[in-house]
Amino acid sequence: TDEAHQRRFDAMITAEERIEPRDWMPDAYRRTLIRQIAQHAHSEIIGMQPEGNWITRAPSLRRKAVLIAKVQDEAGHGLYLYSAAETLGVGRDELLDLLHQGRQRYSSIFNYPTVTWADVGAIGWLVDGAAITNQVPLCRCSYGPYARAMVRICKEESFHQRQGFDILYTLARGTDAQRRMAQESVDRWYWPSLMMFGPPDSESTHSEQSMAWNIKRFSNDELRQRFVDMIVPQAEALGLTLPDPALKWSAERGHYDFGTPDWDEFMQVLKGNGPCNRQRLEHRRTAHEEGAWVREAARAHAAKSRARQRA
Ligand code: ACO
Repeated sequence: TDEAHQRRFDAMITAEERIEPRDWMPDAYRRTLIRQIAQHAHSEIIGMQPEGNWITRAPSLRRKAVLIAKVQDEAGHGLYLYSAAETLGVGRDELLDLLHQGRQRYSSIFNYPTVTWADVGAIGWLVDGAAITNQVPLCRCSYGPYARAMVRICKEESFHQRQGFDILYTLARGTDAQRRMAQESVDRWYWPSLMMFGPPDSESTHSEQSMAWNIKRFSNDELRQRFVDMIVPQAEALGLTLPDPALKWSAERGHYDFGTPDWDEFMQVLKGNGPCNRQRLEHRRTAHEEGAWVREAARAHAAKSRARQRA
């Protein structure tokens, strides 16, 4: 019966066991996972755009090769995540349709423009740094396929963060103009990167239930704090400042105090009114339409292979 299933499911969560695709799970657990994993997958592929913007203009062959590899990694992350979502009974094409219709979200951060080369550095350092902070705990998420996908993704994200740090480190030790470019970029990306962790705990609709299900292991505010504590010494190593007058070590708390992000701006970005929302979705839809022939060719090839096997 459903009641017995529910009891067994609850016991597995309490015992920190992994839920696997063929296990019984409550509908709401399945829906929450589909929402979060799809949003995560969409973020990876929309996230290819801001950095892809700099592939043709990377300042050296080495930087270009590294950036191409990085953007390709993001596509790979999207694929692992869509596969993880498929184990919950939804199709990848279905999820892409929902993204294209604006009915599923992707991370707020990818609605900001990359206007200078330093932005590729700031994205690696701050955005991928925030992503790792959020995703390392997801390696212990109760849903097996999602947790396992996270292990490899986090390893690759760590490399991404280092390459971003390396770009900023180089610029910060370059000419005055390069140093200014690095600082200006950090000034623009700091607050949006803090917003990546989601609304304050008091405004977070899903946190409590997701934590009870061991999907989320830490709250949005806890992870935001962990991120700030990590980047302050890194900013010092870079010789760059974070644009937050409230930043200050609190011996009492054993953490850095920091300012409040502009939550109105965050809500506007979620509503589709960020600087690049329309451009990002438009580009994604066009890429999807222009790729129709590839999907068709793959289907035709698969059908032919099946027919050959039968013959
Ligand atoms: N961007 C867009 N939407 C967001 C963001 C954000 N940064 N943060 C929260 N939201 C949305 C939630 O999806 C939710 O919307 P909904 O109710 O319409 O679905 C609403 O704001 C309220 O937020 P929460 O209740 O706190 O949502 P949730 O429990 O899902 O927590 C979080 C948000 C922390 C982002 C979580 O979903 C998560 O850990 N996701 C996996 C990581 C991820 O998606 N990373 C993508 C960016 S990193 C990268 O790709 C490089």
